[in-house]
Amino acid sequence: MSSRPWRDAWWEALYGPDGFYRRAEGPAGHFTTSAHGGLGAVLGEVVANLADQASVCRVVDLACGRGELLAHLHDSRPDLDLVGVDVVERPHSLPTSVDWLRSPGGAALPDELHDLDALVLAHEWLDVVPCTIAEVDADGILREVLVDEAGTEALGEAVHDDDRAWADTWWLTSAPGDRVEIGLSRDLAWRDLLSRSRAGATIAVDYGHTKANRPAQGTLTAYQGGTLTDAIPDGQRDLTAHVATDSLGSDEVVTQRDLFHRLGLTAATPDHATASTDPLGYVRALGRASTIAALTDPHGLGGFHWAMTRHTRGHA
Ligand SMILES: C[S@@+](CC[C@H](N)C(=O)[O-])C[C@H]1O[C@@H](n2cnc3c(N)ncnc32)[C@H](O)[C@@H]1O
Repeated sequence: MSSRPWRDAWWEALYGPDGFYRRAEGPAGHFTTSAHGGLGAVLGEVVANLADQASVCRVVDLACGRGELLAHLHDSRPDLDLVGVDVVERPHSLPTSVDWLRSPGGAALPDELHDLDALVLAHEWLDVVPCTIAEVDADGILREVLVDEAGTEALGEAVHDDDRAWADTWWLTSAPGDRVEIGLSRDLAWRDLLSRSRAGATIAVDYGHTKANRPAQGTLTAYQGGTLTDAIPDGQRDLTAHVATDSLGSDEVVTQRDLFHRLGLTAATPDHATASTDPLGYVRALGRASTIAALTDPHGLGGFHWAMTRHTRGHA
């Protein structure tokens, strides 16, 4: 079997003609995110709130799956213009007032996405933008990791040029066996996305790490049918690696927990006395508190990084 750089195999496995993300069931058929179900209703509230703060009335959900978050926003904030962007045709289930753009996938964005005056959200996009995977060999040299169709890895050439410069700046290691997920392709994709806006704000939300806590063994992994599985580039599973959010150069990176608290969303349980006077309201408030607890759990979704950049009208 032939080996090639992980980055190329990864792209083919997710976005090639038979790629994982082109499958009919969509990402929600394999894993749950904060955009789904009751979590998505609260996430929608936060996104709408940030759109209000940025004084825009349009939300572009880039890498929106099948538009799950947009459906929540459509219900709760019918005043907002909504646009979904993903690699498949417009899903039939999407409310007709929601616009849709088809995208090439990975780091590439559709040409129609430009001149935006919007809150642009990229929720769990950058972790599926393929990046160079590298490993330090026994002599301390950082080499690109190659992979074959069965997921067997081998070390290739020494990492050089821009990827090398990125690793030297953002993820420096010479300990044999250490892995480095070179974030340059994500940085460039993020910059491209920023360049599409003239006003509003752009936000990337993802599993993240910074120089203070890089994972020495890397994070490349796969999800299939709801379970964590081996990283094999076979088009049958999601392939994902956490994002180095400090190298993006956004205005601010904040954890989901801190952001939600800043916006006044806390998991405080409702006053028990209201259980007898307003039982339905009490049960609803309890449900909301447990949803917010899940979204702000510091060991779970609350640890997600929100990388945010505001756009001054007239400039990217
Ligand atoms: C992990 S899923 C996240 C889906 C959704 N945002 C959520 O949080 O549930 C990643 C999604 O990104 C989409 N995607 C990847 N690259 C893209 C691109 N360049 N443009 C639009 N969508 C893209 C994939 O097709 C997939 O639906």
